[in-house]
Amino acid sequence: MGYEFIIAETRGRVGLITLNRPKQMNALCDALVRELSAALDDFEKSEAIGAIVITGSQKAFAAGADITAMRDFSYMDAYKNDYITRDWERIKTCRKPVIAAVAGYALGGGCELAMMCDFILAADNAQFGQPEIKLGTLPGAGGTQRLPRAIGKAKAMEMCLTARMMGAEEAERAGLVARIIPTDKLLEEALITAEKIAAFSLPAVMMIKESINRAFESGLNEGLLFERRVFHASFVLEDQKEGMAAFADKRKPVFKHQ
Ligand code: HXC
Repeated sequence: MGYEFIIAETRGRVGLITLNRPKQMNALCDALVRELSAALDDFEKSEAIGAIVITGSQKAFAAGADITAMRDFSYMDAYKNDYITRDWERIKTCRKPVIAAVAGYALGGGCELAMMCDFILAADNAQFGQPEIKLGTLPGAGGTQRLPRAIGKAKAMEMCLTARMMGAEEAERAGLVARIIPTDKLLEEALITAEKIAAFSLPAVMMIKESINRAFESGLNEGLLFERRVFHASFVLEDQKEGMAAFADKRKPVFKHQ
């Protein structure tokens, strides 16, 4: 897979995408985000992949959208090209679980990219922030919507209005990240976590992801109804028969992802 700004590789049943634009702190230019989308397409199509990890370097997950590329945009450039929507939304539509393994800076679009993933594992040196206000603009890839849902209005307002960065410990306390991991163990631990998910029944994993995401799209009763219908549908899975038979037989299940 010949990419310029990312590295895409497989580790067992895990697809690993490393943002790789080190001189620019992984600033998210269009070409990088297009490559990320293409890699997600490939991993989504592959029967051999059950979960995906997106990571950066120990210094930066991503320091935001590429300011150099954006600075001279006109309104028409942004509007006609459907900036952000066109390339960035691919992560949102991925049906397999995507984990963001974040070390160093996750700022602006970098923080937004991490929040588009299903959950964030943070290195102890991670720094999250939405500093767009310093540039005379605002978060444009979901920051004003996903951040308050993750950490509440007060902290989201304060971060977006002051550009204050939030370290890993505060981010964990506030609910932005699932877990903190020592920086030098982050990738290893993210891959172990992804491999664990990928070993479970893929359709069951997808059903869980889809159902949890409904919690953010609907009222409680609609969400419960959605979950119940999907739960009923899960009785069609061979993996459900295998999982429950294995429990009764006191053996490990062998999932076929169907
Ligand atoms: C383009 C960037 C960049 C960015 C860093 N660089 N962030 N280039 N876009 N977002 C470049 C720097 O210009 C510099 O290039 C090189 O990366 C190293 O950065 P330094 O600033 O020298 O490093 P350091 O002093 O360690 O500071 C790191 C940093 C700082 C705190 C991350 O770079 C920073 O504040 N970056 C901008 C963060 C930001 O405002 N993000 C939001 C962007 S707007 P040279 O050539 O000098 O070596 C955004 C909008 C979202 O994301 C809306 C839709 C997605």
